[in-house]
Amino acid sequence: MPIYEPHLDQLLQLAAQRGGIDFITDLAAPAAESDAIFIAVGTPSMSTGETNLCYLEAAARSIGAAMDDSRFRVVVNKSTVPVGSGNLVETLVREGIRGAHPGNQKRIRFGVASNPEFLREGCAIADSLYPDRIVLGAGEECMQVLRELYQLLVEQSFEAPVFLPRPAGMSRVPVVTTTLTSAEMIKYAANAFLAVKIGFANEIANICERVGADALEVMSGIGLDGRIGARFLNPGLGWGGSCFGKDIQSLLHTAREYGYQSRMLEAALEVNRAQRQLVIQKLQEKLFILKGRTIALLGLAFKPETDDLRDAPALQIAERLLQMGVRVNAYDPIAMESCRLIHPNLKIHYCESPQEAAEEADALVLVTEWKQFAGLDLADLAKRMCRAILVDGRNLFDPEVARRAGFDYSGIGRPQRAAARTDNPAIPSTI
Ligand code: UGA
Repeated sequence: MPIYEPHLDQLLQLAAQRGGIDFITDLAAPAAESDAIFIAVGTPSMSTGETNLCYLEAAARSIGAAMDDSRFRVVVNKSTVPVGSGNLVETLVREGIRGAHPGNQKRIRFGVASNPEFLREGCAIADSLYPDRIVLGAGEECMQVLRELYQLLVEQSFEAPVFLPRPAGMSRVPVVTTTLTSAEMIKYAANAFLAVKIGFANEIANICERVGADALEVMSGIGLDGRIGARFLNPGLGWGGSCFGKDIQSLLHTAREYGYQSRMLEAALEVNRAQRQLVIQKLQEKLFILKGRTIALLGLAFKPETDDLRDAPALQIAERLLQMGVRVNAYDPIAMESCRLIHPNLKIHYCESPQEAAEEADALVLVTEWKQFAGLDLADLAKRMCRAILVDGRNLFDPEVARRAGFDYSGIGRPQRAAARTDNPAIPSTI
């Protein structure tokens, strides 16, 4: 596998055993044989925030060139594309048909649909097999093909793989059927909302820290309100990855094209940028001078269960520390190899274990909340360090446990002193 994604190798093996998957670089034969053709190419951001559609355009033209008049086909767009791109795909498919079949173009029938993707890296397969919803944006003829295609998933009547059993209580998957434009917009709105939600949790956490409240308890307290919901309220070093930043930029760009300035989305980007600076501020508060110190980073990937480093907070933190003359030790269970390869100029000292990273360090920063870090022997780590300072950028550890282990602990949005709770026994406990 060129990427790390839990269970993906098992899933492909299963598909290969059943003869259900081929990898081909020539589009013509599979496109000609298929009823539905999915476009799932990258749509990266350009420096202006505009989306680079060159891969989408090339795919659409080639699909058009490969079509014949043997059946009606649906060209399904899975890539995250700016609102209105469905129309562009249709034009380009037609262009491809015209180029390859001059004179016959009227007899070649197809429709374009939008079927946005909502999977998260690290749990991509579970999100695909057991989704919260399926969104289909298309006209009626395409819709019929897609309904049939998704029937097993919607009814959850397929045999669940042994390595990823169906969650208890999982039943019919809701299907949202809408227009192309609304489907494209749903994708952007979902990612923007999630990014804003995390940004909101971070804003509240920063205020909590100042007034002595515990952001995790505050988030539990608000998350139980069904209108708010508990998920995606974890304060920390902010969101990274290839989606939230890119999609907000793209939505802002679309809004600007229509003369609209989205202050809320701009603020979401700004709050997230500032959140990454917190680590440096916290280290400066504890150590005053950073030049010449050794700081250990636990985790490099933008989130656990992936080796993806795109827009990972760890990279920015490491870069800033290195600029400040800090020696940066780092350990990540999966992403070190990608980091070495993709960022050869980042002079990080890669370590074989969290213990090696902590050896003689002046501070430890938890950047990615890999499960195995939760089980670390903190007392042992503290003993290895020059100064036992722990900045927990993902609130992974229990502050009391870390303090008992000998650490000077600070999390994100958590009271500096354990005293807050005993001072006021009336504070409710976390549910
Ligand atoms: C995100 C969306 O969650 C998916 O629904 C969407 O399909 C995907 O983007 C996409 O557009 O392709 P992903 O970026 O893979 O998925 O990962 P998330 O689990 O959403 O995490 C994104 C970032 O937010 C991570 O850096 C994570 O650490 C951070 N995060 C998440 C928080 O800081 N706090 C939280 O409470 C949750």
